Amino acid sequence: MAEAAHGEQSTIHRCSTFIDESRVLMILITGATGTIGGALARRLTADGVPFRALVRREGVTIPGAEVVVGDLDDPATLPEAFVGVSQLFLNTPGPYPDEEPVIAQQLAAIDAAVAAGVEHVVKVSAVGARAGGPMPFGTHAKIEAYLADSGLAGTVLRPNTVMQNLVRGITIFTPDGDLFEAFGGKIAHVDARDVADCAFAVLTGSAPRGGAHDLTGPGALTAAELAAALSAALDREIGLVQPDLDELEPILVGQGMPESYVKHFVELARLVTAGALAEVTTAVTDLTGNSPRSIEAFIAEHRDQLRGVPAKSFWA
Ligand SMILES: NC(=O)c1ccc[n+]([C@@H]2O[C@H](COP(=O)([O-])OP(=O)(O)OC[C@H]3O[C@@H](n4cnc5c(N)ncnc54)[C@H](OP(=O)(O)O)[C@@H]3O)[C@@H](O)[C@H]2O)c1
Repeated sequence: MAEAAHGEQSTIHRCSTFIDESRVLMILITGATGTIGGALARRLTADGVPFRALVRREGVTIPGAEVVVGDLDDPATLPEAFVGVSQLFLNTPGPYPDEEPVIAQQLAAIDAAVAAGVEHVVKVSAVGARAGGPMPFGTHAKIEAYLADSGLAGTVLRPNTVMQNLVRGITIFTPDGDLFEAFGGKIAHVDARDVADCAFAVLTGSAPRGGAHDLTGPGALTAAELAAALSAALDREIGLVQPDLDELEPILVGQGMPESYVKHFVELARLVTAGALAEVTTAVTDLTGNSPRSIEAFIAEHRDQLRGVPAKSFWA
């Protein structure tokens, strides 16, 4: 765990975290305006660790960051952003409904990192990543394999479903206010802030580099249990709408989900129903030294936002 404490490199203690300054150097973050990347940017800023953020749009400001404009869809914009970078935090949108852009974006970033002499990449992947799997599992597996073959040192963080999906319009509530969940199995949700804290620990040297870490919260819930937890916190009865797997395809098509994505989603639902996201791990504690945040605490903290989450169709 405490690689920073090994050898003769100096360590400092800041906000209860050992930061090995000789290992930090310049960190480049992609996706810093997103959920997981934004949480990492806020953590680095809070702890006074300098970093650079690659953003697509002019005029974006990120407190504490040197902001550079570049587009992962346009590899020619990347070399300038990578000048002087020693570590890359590789994080883009999920592959919905098409994995091609995400694969091209992340491979371009890895190529730019190799060209710039970056020494270490922390890649955000997903629990369940496996070659030949549906999106996003297969997508992240392809990128993980490319990173492994790149010659760069890599650490793979595989979050389970992040709790912030509940307030981002990703979790679906029907017009009656019920939870719509196609996945039948338990899900060990993780708070994006804990994913960020794991990345922070690896990037700043308080946790060792390398390996692939399945990141989860402290428990796993079925959708019925999640609906019950939401009901208790929001003081209203939240039912569960959960189609059988063999009913799912026409529902998704009827709601406008692109047909190219439907087969991936149905396969994903089959895997999750069989338990692909159910395992609870100790990885957050192993990497950060802290217990992961629970979904009950997340719901309580976001009660007002959750009360205001609008209904939406599956694919709006
Ligand atoms: N959410 C989950 O439940 C979950 C679970 C497991 C794994 N993951 C994985 O975690 C990763 C991040 O997910 P997230 O939910 O945090 O993503 P997100 O909130 O959608 O953020 C995506 C980020 O990527 C940036 N971006 C998009 N296109 C770009 C481009 N062409 N060039 C540069 N930057 C670009 C976005 O910038 P703009 O602000 O410009 O759009 C944004 O900052 C994904 O790979 C996902 O598969 C997510």
